[in-house]
Amino acid sequence: MISSVMKASLYSQYGPPSVLRLEDLPVPVPSDSEILVHVHATTVNRTDCAMLRAKPWIMRLFTGLLRPQKPILGTDFAGIVVGMGNSVTGFGLGDKVFGFDDSGLSSHAQFLSISVNKAIGHIPEGVSFEHAAASLEGVHYAFNFMNKVNLTKGQKMLVNGATGAIGSALVQLLMNKGLQVSAVGNTKNIDVLKKMGVEKVIDYTAEDFTQLNETFDYIFDAVGKSTFARCKHLLSKNGVYISSELGPLMQNPFLALLTSFSKGRRVIFPVPTRPKETLQMTQKELQTRVFTPLIDRVYTYNEIDKAFAYVETGEKSGNVLIDWAEAPSG
Ligand SMILES: NC(=O)c1ccc[n+]([C@@H]2O[C@H](COP(=O)([O-])OP(=O)(O)OC[C@H]3O[C@@H](n4cnc5c(N)ncnc54)[C@H](OP(=O)(O)O)[C@@H]3O)[C@@H](O)[C@H]2O)c1
Repeated sequence: MISSVMKASLYSQYGPPSVLRLEDLPVPVPSDSEILVHVHATTVNRTDCAMLRAKPWIMRLFTGLLRPQKPILGTDFAGIVVGMGNSVTGFGLGDKVFGFDDSGLSSHAQFLSISVNKAIGHIPEGVSFEHAAASLEGVHYAFNFMNKVNLTKGQKMLVNGATGAIGSALVQLLMNKGLQVSAVGNTKNIDVLKKMGVEKVIDYTAEDFTQLNETFDYIFDAVGKSTFARCKHLLSKNGVYISSELGPLMQNPFLALLTSFSKGRRVIFPVPTRPKETLQMTQKELQTRVFTPLIDRVYTYNEIDKAFAYVETGEKSGNVLIDWAEAPSG
């Protein structure tokens, strides 16, 4: 028997994590084409943080000019189907499911209803809710980095920010494709990167990777702390620089446009698309155990403000999760 009331984390104004409030709300009623999911795990990710503060300002064009249009944050979830509309096929009560949408799913709540036409799917056998939720956002951006270029076995890559959610997914997916990966991370995570199988790990607290005396076919800046200008000399003749950030002067989209007309070194600014495809690939990667998400911390549902504060430091290793499974109803 599902309670009619649920706990959810809400915000009605942009600001720091202290604007978040835990409240009781009615459990959503699924429409004809929706399933109702009892959420067990969600992440707090950098997209959630950007939406919380509406930073960069341009976010407001999508999230609401003066105040947030959607009061509940959360772009991913893993949980159990507990209800469904009349026209739903392919899902049944009790199914373990996960899903992602970086425009927002309102998943920082005990229950959510979601259309079966969105990027959702079954969690592969033996994969926990935590692992499933932690395999969505980072992998989506990693796949989108990779899908924008023509990767071939043996090429040389450098991944900056290799211990973030995006970076840690990217490193694993690139290595699975037989690419030679050098990874830049912090001292505390050197062992984590070595355990992933990275041969060359650069500790950014001890060494500046831009001073390396070698060239790469691709530099993936998964933390946006470098620039094309600083990396250009490390790129091979037709090398490509890809960043997950706009750049300190918001230059990356313009550089991408500019360099697309030139022969030689290029910038690509990857606008992430096709989340359904990512989800299908993620299911395969998890099934075959070639990908294991990096999990840093798990917070309880009533510590969500603390989770946001930690993610905002920019120092998380991989993913930060919220456990909603134990939240009392109402
Ligand atoms: N384009 C988009 O739509 C989009 C979407 C999501 C995220 N993003 C952006 O993509 C970036 C990565 O997101 P994420 O969730 O993967 O980030 P994250 O988990 O916050 O990770 C950043 C990682 O980079 C490491 N790091 C910090 N400074 C570094 C440096 N100077 N050199 C190398 N590594 C460094 C951090 O480790 P330590 O601090 O422990 O050293 C941390 O592990 C963020 O900047 C985020 O804003 C963009």
